Amino acid sequence: MWEGNVMNIVKIRAILSTILLVVFLAVLIITIGVLYTTRTGHTFLGISKAELFNARNILGPIMNILIIIHLSINWGLYKRELKVLFKK
Ligand code: HEM
Repeated sequence: MWEGNVMNIVKIRAILSTILLVVFLAVLIITIGVLYTTRTGHTFLGISKAELFNARNILGPIMNILIIIHLSINWGLYKRELKVLFKK
């Protein structure tokens, strides 16, 4: 049963990381769009600046929440890495 549990944790990590990657890519494209509309005054892919801001205001906090969960899930791994980094 122990191996089954480990597989589930790995799967949860993989699902979370994939959602995080997708949200990150969306925020990246939106940010490029905001820069584009600000500099040119044109819409970006038919999306207005106000709509881009709206989307970012929703996706930004979602990404922050995902990052907090991601960091807490990976905290143990990170602590072990810090030990390797600072061991004498
Ligand atoms: C674009 C957003 C991000 C993506 C797609 C991503 C992806 C990943 C992946 C695939 C792993 C391997 C373990 C796992 O799947 O959970 C990982 C590990 C880790 N991530 Fe992220 N990550 C992102 C952002 C962040 C941020 C912002 C932080 C810090 C606040 C962070 C901290 C960590 C830590 C501490 C680990 C453990 C392994 C290590 O320290 O190298 N990640 N991340």
